[in-house]
Amino acid sequence: MIREVLRMGDPRLLQRSQEIQTFGTPELQALLTDMRDTMAHLNGAGLAAPQIGVGLRVVIFGVHANPRYPDVEEVPDTVLINPVLTPLGEEMEEGWEGCLSVPGMRGAVPRYKRLRYSGYDELGRHFEREVQDFHARVVQHEVDHLDGILYPMRIRDLSKFGFNEALFPGQALPEE
Ligand code: NI
Repeated sequence: MIREVLRMGDPRLLQRSQEIQTFGTPELQALLTDMRDTMAHLNGAGLAAPQIGVGLRVVIFGVHANPRYPDVEEVPDTVLINPVLTPLGEEMEEGWEGCLSVPGMRGAVPRYKRLRYSGYDELGRHFEREVQDFHARVVQHEVDHLDGILYPMRIRDLSKFGFNEALFPGQALPEE
């Protein structure tokens, strides 16, 4: 079911979400179905459970090249639960981000360039990956949602925050 995405200003987006304790349940499957439906409906690159008002540490993401976003770096479709992020090195990189909870806008956000992330899939199987660049950026953006952080809170130079049509006229841009 497509759910309403909460927008910046809603206090539920500012709370720390809780760990999933039990995997493989119908409730968790229903949550993931709703998250996938909602993300697909909005052509999103990622979605965190608190964005649909569910305060649990569950995120999904995935990006594929398509005519709308021909230049995008691909990211595999992933369900990540109770994530742990470990930066690999201290190198940070600024890059443009958008968010389904801040629709129509974009800001330049510093993120770790490389990191390891680990967590669980919906059946409770543990996995970890080492990633960099856009994949690393998407994971950091989504996991921030679980700690009540929205990307505008991380922008260092607010002159690099604005509306999509003004910053990037005529371009369709993915939001997370
Ligand atoms: Ni977001």
